[in-house]
Amino acid sequence: QSIPLHLSFSFPRLFKSKLHLEEEEEDDSQEGINKASKGGIIYGDYLQVKHSPSSSSLIELRLLRAYELWFKQILWELDSVREIFISGHVRDERNMLKVNTRIHRIVMIFRLLVDQFAVLETMTALDFYDFREYLSPASGFQSLQFRLLENKIGVPDNLRVPYNRRHYRDNFKGHESEMLLRSEKEPCLLKLVEKWLERTPGLEEDGFNFWVKLEANIFEGLSLEKNKIEKMQDSEEKEEMMEEMTKQKELFTSLFDVKRHEHLLGKGERRISYKALQGALMIYFYREEPRFQVPFQLLSNLMDIDTLMTKWRYNHVCMVHRMIGSKAGTGGSSGYHYLRSTVSDRYKVFVDLFNLAMFLIPRHWVPKLDPNEHTFLFTAEYCDSSYCSSEDSD
Ligand code: HEM
Repeated sequence: QSIPLHLSFSFPRLFKSKLHLEEEEEDDSQEGINKASKGGIIYGDYLQVKHSPSSSSLIELRLLRAYELWFKQILWELDSVREIFISGHVRDERNMLKVNTRIHRIVMIFRLLVDQFAVLETMTALDFYDFREYLSPASGFQSLQFRLLENKIGVPDNLRVPYNRRHYRDNFKGHESEMLLRSEKEPCLLKLVEKWLERTPGLEEDGFNFWVKLEANIFEGLSLEKNKIEKMQDSEEKEEMMEEMTKQKELFTSLFDVKRHEHLLGKGERRISYKALQGALMIYFYREEPRFQVPFQLLSNLMDIDTLMTKWRYNHVCMVHRMIGSKAGTGGSSGYHYLRSTVSDRYKVFVDLFNLAMFLIPRHWVPKLDPNEHTFLFTAEYCDSSYCSSEDSD
């Protein structure tokens, strides 16, 4: 029995074009010879391997192909969303539904990819051992699409864990290396979302001026709380509450300190501008307002992407540990140890959105919206009706 090796990797529109699984088609994302590997096969070739397969190696090959196919679809969705932001179509808020739908689709694909590891885990380490000899030195580390995906979402180069003390791009040559370089330079999803958040309605100093109102409310609320605690009889509970109050005050003082924000940005602990952070918090607090519902869902979906990518890395490293222990990986890195260090916040792109949960406050501290004054009506600052044509809708 021969393996259906000619899987197509070219299905740019999942729901528009037919998937020809058995047809011979070029996969341009995996073509070319990767000279980074000396002798043996490389990842792209590995996906095209022809030999008498065991059931385990069939699983491994088919799943790798499945992963690469889904990576391709994710890249398509990602590029289309980035294009909506880049072209300014996002200024017509009707397009936010489309952005959100596509981001949500990426989330759904990632969910699938995370779960697929369960199938690979049905292989035993011994099965994998026989097969592995044949694979050396091919490695998922050479997956071009995975790297493009990381870059386009916004994994910053300076926060990457070095691989064999080398830059990740050194594993790619020619056209692939150029594609990666370009993806590092183009605006990533994080930067585009940042610009969009900066325009959140309600941040204008001469309008609702959310940030100033919020600061005043929080410190007033904290000082009322403090008065209440001070009136309590001396007790261990009172001391504990006072300590907690001091911590809260420090936390919120840091939130409203723009210099501290710049400092954390420099350290890579925050990734978005101060203004964008304010926009995100505003969306969190007013998520029930019709105007903020889709933006809120979008922020949740962006966090889901980060969470699922972390889960992907975690499931992958657990499987790697099971298959090869902590020996060197086929690509020659420290394998397990290297991969374990990538399951970290360094690789979380939307880390600020997670951290905002530290700044949640009682509902009655949230600045009230005057329904007559602040309706946050739908806007279409920029409306290109051709863009909203049914042909391009999801
Ligand atoms: C039994 C199966 C697998 C084993 C033992 C394995 C092993 C490894 C190892 C050891 C590395 C570290 C780089 C190296 O030294 O080679 C790695 C990286 C990688 N593998 Fe796998 N892998 C397996 C399955 C998969 C699958 C199914 C995918 C799906 C595409 C995948 C994608 C990747 C990617 C993208 C990297 C780079 C990760 C990073 O640098 O953050 N691997 N793999």
